[in-house]
This record gives sequence, structure tokens and C-alpha cells, in this order.
Amino acid sequence: MAEKSYIIDDREKNLFLLDRIAYVSEELHDQEMERVFGRCWVYVGHSSEIKNPGDFQSRYVAGRPVIFCRNQAGEIKCHFNTCRHRGAVVCVERSGNKRNFRCIYHSWAYDLNGKLVGLPGEEAYSGEFNRDELGLRSPARFDSYKDFWFLCLDPDAPSLSDYLAGAKEYIDLVVDQSPSGTMDIISGTQEYDIAGNWKLMVENSVDDYHLPSTHSTWLKYMMNSGVKIEMPKEGLVLPKTGK
Ligand code: FES
Ligand SMILES: [Fe+2]
Repeated sequence: MAEKSYIIDDREKNLFLLDRIAYVSEELHDQEMERVFGRCWVYVGHSSEIKNPGDFQSRYVAGRPVIFCRNQAGEIKCHFNTCRHRGAVVCVERSGNKRNFRCIYHSWAYDLNGKLVGLPGEEAYSGEFNRDELGLRSPARFDSYKDFWFLCLDPDAPSLSDYLAGAKEYIDLVVDQSPSGTMDIISGTQEYDIAGNWKLMVENSVDDYHLPSTHSTWLKYMMNSGVKIEMPKEGLVLPKTGK
């Protein structure tokens, strides 16, 4: 049975409508988590956030808690921040430097490669117990483009390079402004929570229509700073770099 569409996209009539249920239904949200965030490459972090061996950041990516860290060999790794014993959060700190991550519940310890390296009372475990099989799990795919690291929960997804495709030009645009060719994420964080559906945020990012009304102060500031802002007859209202 064909799935219900929540979109009316009639090019001939120049009509595009979206059912409001797409923004409020928990069932649809669950499906999106599985079909969008469960299949796409999602940004994890930047190499400069974990410069030294042992540096880590813990955060939620694609709805999953992960540890983004650098091992003793200098390699960047990503593990699910979920203990293999009873599923507690292993690393509760947001960032720092560690040799091991010790679960707060029963003290199972994992190294920077996610390997289970210690647990209290190991001699009491018998039979099939094999600590080598009980390391932290990792996302199916983990890869980077110009020091920007992404994960993907789908083992069959296309490569990161193919997935990013033309979006690489935007990363290049930013990175190529650095004389050294590399970038540093500077310390300090600005965070905000939005009590709204994730699609509203994505759509708002490409909604240039609201710039003149909502962001007139910013537009004037940019214009006064010498940034060339053209108001096209149709299409986008994006500032140009002036090159
Ligand atoms: S849940 Fe982590 S050690 Fe038990
Ligand atoms: Fe207790």
C-alpha cells in the first residue's frame, strides 16, 4: 500500500503545501529518526576539538550518545557512549582528557579504542564471557572531510564523499579562507534549544524570505560593513563575499 504523502507539490500550478502534521506527529518523528537520521551521514565534530591523545567530547549525534575521542596513537575514534554491561552512560563529562572511560554504574572501564580493559570481579564471570567481545560499539560508518567528522548508522549508505557531493563546496569555502589550510574550533560554546520540530530549523536555514523582515538590522550592518547584498528580482537573498 502506498504511503500517505504529506506534501502537495504541483509544479504546473506552482503550488507547494505541507501538512502541519509533519511538524507535530510523534509517529512521523520516530519514522524520520529511523529513515533520515538512521541513514544519513550526520556531523559529529572537528579534529581540532580533540587535539591531543586522550582528548574527548561526548555529545548526542543522530539521537545517539557518542564519545568522539583521540586515541594514544593519535587516531580519531567514535564510540557509542553506552556501556556493554547494563547500558548506562559510560562517560558523563562533556569534554576532557582520559586514558580510560569508566562506567559510573559498576565500573567497567574502556580504553580510547573502546576496548573493555577492566571490570570488577571479572573472575566471577564464566562460561561464554569474553571481554574482547564487549568493547564499546561504534557507529557503522565514521569518516571525515577536511577534519570535519561524520557518522552514519547505515552500513549500506553511500560513502561520505558521495553523500556530501556539492555540499563539499561550502566546507571548502570556509576552510580555504584559512591561510594554513586548516581550521581550529575555538573554545567556548553557544548552545540553544528550540522547542520545535527539527525540520523547522533546517527550513529556516534556507528561508531567505524572512531576512529583510526579521533580520533587517543584521542586513544593514552587513551592508555598512562593505558586504555586497543584492536584492534579486527572484530567488535567493544571500549576501555575497564581494569577491
Ligand atoms: S552498566 Fe556500566 S558497568 Fe554496569
Ligand atoms: Fe543503588
